Amino acid sequence: TFTPRIFSGIQPSGGLTLGNYLGALKRFVEKQDEGIETIYCLVDMHAITVWQDPEKLRQQTREGAAAFIAAGIDPARSILFNQSQVTAHAELGWIFNCVARMGWMSRMTQFKDKAGKNSENVSLGLFAYPALMAADILAYKATHVPVGEDQKQHLELTRDIAIKFNNDYKVNFFPVTEPVIEGAATRVMSLRDGSKKMSKSDPSDQSRINLTDDADAISAKIRKAKTDPEPLPETLDGLKDRPEARNLVNIYAALSGQSAESVVAEFAGAQFGTFKPRLAELAVAKLSPITTEMNRLMRDPAEIDRILGRGAEQAEAIARPILNDVYDIVGM
Ligand code: ADP
Ligand code: NA
Repeated sequence: TFTPRIFSGIQPSGGLTLGNYLGALKRFVEKQDEGIETIYCLVDMHAITVWQDPEKLRQQTREGAAAFIAAGIDPARSILFNQSQVTAHAELGWIFNCVARMGWMSRMTQFKDKAGKNSENVSLGLFAYPALMAADILAYKATHVPVGEDQKQHLELTRDIAIKFNNDYKVNFFPVTEPVIEGAATRVMSLRDGSKKMSKSDPSDQSRINLTDDADAISAKIRKAKTDPEPLPETLDGLKDRPEARNLVNIYAALSGQSAESVVAEFAGAQFGTFKPRLAELAVAKLSPITTEMNRLMRDPAEIDRILGRGAEQAEAIARPILNDVYDIVGM
C-alpha cells in the first residue's frame, strides 16, 4: 500500500533527441496531466559516469530543464530538479551498492554495450550506475517509472534491490516499482541504422533528430533516413523484417497520436518519397514549438536555475525523511 508516485530522469549528457522526447518526455507530460504526483530529474551524476566537459555539463543541464518545461512539464505541478543538488541520491546509492550483488551488475547489457571491449578502463561509476538509478527512484518510494524500452533491465534491478533490502532487514519499506513502457515509440531507432537506438551519444548527428534542430535540419535528416525500396505495406505485418521502415511508421504514429496500424492503413501502397515529406511536416509541426520555447527559456539561465533550485528543495523534503528511516533500519 504505497501512494502512487512517478519518478523518472534524463541524463544531461548531450542534447535531447526525438527518442528521448517520444520515449520519455512526452509521456512524462501525460503522467503529469493525469494528476499523479510526478518527480522528474536531470541526472547529472549519471552523466559523469563517462567524461563530461564541466562547462558543457552545466549548459546541458539547463538545456535539459528547458526541454522538460518546453515539452509541457509545469514546475508548479511536477517537481523538476537536478540530481546532484539532492544528496539523498548519492547517500542511498551507496547503501544500494552494498545491497546489489556483483553478479547482478555484471549482467547489465547497457554496461556491456557502453564499456565494449574496454571494460578494464571505464569508470567504476558506469558499472554501479544501476544502483544509483535504483536510489533515484526509491529515495521517493516511487511506484511507477515511465521509461523507454532500453531501461527495462535497469528497472528490474531496481525491483531486485527493493526486494532484497526489504527481505534482508525484514521490513516492507520500499515499493517494488513498476516500469511504465507504453506508446507507439518505446524504442526509437537510429535514422542511419535500424539495429541501433537513436541516442544523444551516437557519434553521427545524422542518426538522430535533436530537439534543437530547426525545420530544415529535421526535413533533411528524414529525407536522408535509411529505408528500403519497397512501398509501405497494407498491414503492419508487412513491416516485420523492415526495421528502418517500421521505425519511421512508429515515429509518425507516436507524433500523431495514432496507432502504427492506422498509419500503415492510411499510407498503404505509398512510396517513401511520399511518406517522408509527410513525416517531416508532422515532425516539424510537433517539434518546432518546443524548440522555440526552449530557445526562449535558454535566454534566462538564472530563471532556469531558480526553477531547479526550488525543485531540489521540494525533492529534498520528500527524500530526507525516507533516508532518515533507511539509516535507522540499517543501524546507523
Ligand atoms: P540516452 O540514451 O539518449 O542517453 P538517457 O539514458 O538519458 O538517454 O534516457 C532518458 C530517457 O529516454 C529514458 O527513459 C530512456 O529510456 C529514453 N530513451 C532514450 N533513448 C530512447 C529511444 N531511442 N527511444 C525511446 N526512448 C528512449
Ligand atoms: Na539510456
